[in-house]
Amino acid sequence: MRREEKAPARSAAEFLPSRLEWPSLRAAAAGCRGCELYRRATQTVLGEGPARARIMMIGEQPGDQEDREGHPFVGPAGGLLDRACAEAGLERSAIYLTNAVKHFKWAPRGSRRFHQHPTRAEIRACRPWLEAETRLLRPQLIVCLGASAAQALFGPGFRVTRMRGQLLDASRLPQPLPVAAALLATVHPASILRMPDRDERHREFARFAADLRQAARFLASPRAA
Ligand code: URA
Ligand code: SF4
Repeated sequence: MRREEKAPARSAAEFLPSRLEWPSLRAAAAGCRGCELYRRATQTVLGEGPARARIMMIGEQPGDQEDREGHPFVGPAGGLLDRACAEAGLERSAIYLTNAVKHFKWAPRGSRRFHQHPTRAEIRACRPWLEAETRLLRPQLIVCLGASAAQALFGPGFRVTRMRGQLLDASRLPQPLPVAAALLATVHPASILRMPDRDERHREFARFAADLRQAARFLASPRAA
């Protein structure tokens, strides 16, 4: 009889450090094998930003450039996010940026590595890292960029197009987060970059910046003090 292979880990949970601090979290995440995505990616890309950031933004997963460089949002989508934040009055250097999934998922297309959306199971498997980041950072506001991030927090029934730009409260979360942060969802910056029509891109950029302005307004309000 063939010897059974060891079953792959079902989530990142078993890779979490026993003592939760930023350096131990970062070191542990680098060795995560909580789902299959580590196999084809270069490295784990954990979130980054000031430890005192009041706002956390969650994207989908590192892209091609993020995978090579090891930092979140350093590619084209990050560039668009920077411009939208500037327009909304949010300073990127004051934001903790992370992703729902910490490894780049891709398929070969010609000589390029083509982005693939993570599955629901992969998003679920990676959630312990997101929770640990949230626990350490204790942000006042969490912004979900796009459907994968929104799914990670609100579950699969959540519709970004219907709920975008509104402040949401934690009672909407199927699984509570370790902190009582306000929540806001909007589209993913890459979805704007992909639009073929220039006028549409401009319109959608303005809507995206308007959503982020709600985040800036919340942070400036007494509710966030
Ligand atoms: N898209 C994301 O969702 N995250 C990144 O870090 C880069 C691109
Ligand atoms: Fe671990 Fe997340 Fe990478 Fe899967 S995607 S191996 S759960 S860090």
